[in-house]
Amino acid sequence: MEKFRFLTSGESHGKCLTAIIDGLPANLEIDTDFINAELSRRQGGYGRGGRMKIEADTVEILSGVRFGKTFGAPVTLVIENKDFENWQKIMSADPKDVTSEKSFTTYRPGHADYAGSVKYNQKDLRNILERSSARKTAIEVAVGAVAKLFLNQFGIKGSSQILQIGNAKTEEEFHKEIDMAKSAGDTLGGKIKVLYENVPVGLGSYVQWDRALDGRIAQAVMSVPAVKSVAIGNHHAYKMKGSEFHDEIFTEDGKIVRKTNNAGGIEGGISNGENIVVTAVMKPIPTLLKPLQSVDCATGHPSEAHFERSDTCAVEACAVVIESRVACVLANELLLKYGGDSIEECLLKIEG
Ligand SMILES: Cc1cc2nc3c(=O)[nH]c(=O)nc-3n(C[C@H](O)[C@H](O)[C@H](O)COP(=O)(O)O)c2cc1C
Repeated sequence: MEKFRFLTSGESHGKCLTAIIDGLPANLEIDTDFINAELSRRQGGYGRGGRMKIEADTVEILSGVRFGKTFGAPVTLVIENKDFENWQKIMSADPKDVTSEKSFTTYRPGHADYAGSVKYNQKDLRNILERSSARKTAIEVAVGAVAKLFLNQFGIKGSSQILQIGNAKTEEEFHKEIDMAKSAGDTLGGKIKVLYENVPVGLGSYVQWDRALDGRIAQAVMSVPAVKSVAIGNHHAYKMKGSEFHDEIFTEDGKIVRKTNNAGGIEGGISNGENIVVTAVMKPIPTLLKPLQSVDCATGHPSEAHFERSDTCAVEACAVVIESRVACVLANELLLKYGGDSIEECLLKIEG
């Protein structure tokens, strides 16, 4: 049973992106400025493409919030795509507007184009690009921001750090690495660390496979576009000895304490009170200015991959998306354990 549920809709160049969030307790303050600040974090970062210059994402709340607070009803969030004014006819729902403008038929390796076109029986790859695009992560970040507002009530805070971009391992080298890739018509990925502090003991469970907190976080992070691996805690575990890896247990003033956190805050599928530490690898952006070899599905002939305005590197943005996904998982788990109909009821439960 999920408590914090949401669905999103919307295409990359459609009118808007939408989310409906169900399960939020009443009296949660919804700070729109905070949601918008999270949206601009997602749009930023060195190496982003032209699209992010067109969009200045802001959220509109269509339901479930009155005078700045939730009241138990589902919350509807909307982000408009500013670029839609250039795509109105191309993305029209009306069959009278049918056009081949912006249609394309050469698969982009690394994207959903080939597999998606087979699965959904589509000849125009535009119909695959539009929903598989990472543009939808904008509305996911808005949902994640609401989850973070809920977590804030419990003193839980998230943050992220870029560990590596391509071969660059320090911040000073990141921009140079991205500039070099860009001038070669190439792209980059990287490694990201996300941390959540002040998470109480007892979220998640070992009693069924699908209730393990590490498993839930891994699924939520792995399904972020371009994320190809996820680790909880020390991702060098494979080369460490048991005596080095496991976090010994001590007491201090009658409280359980650890001096290390290689487990990343989760043991046996349950949060253990230490910081939740998630590391993820983002693959290089698949759309290349210097196109990869591919096939045109209309002719069956070899062809260069379709190019559409694209990022060189989106690792910083990806970090914000991952923070948001983890926030949603933690919000759900908190509601499962300490859920109530109002925020006051939730706080009473956690304070015991
Ligand atoms: C924040 C963010 C921005 C992205 N921007 C682009 C982009 O501009 N161009 C591109 O080709 N892929 C971009 N991607 C990656 C693709 O969306 C992703 O690789 C593709 O949908 C295939 O999914 P998969 O890599 O999970 O298999 C981005 C991903 C994220 C998380």
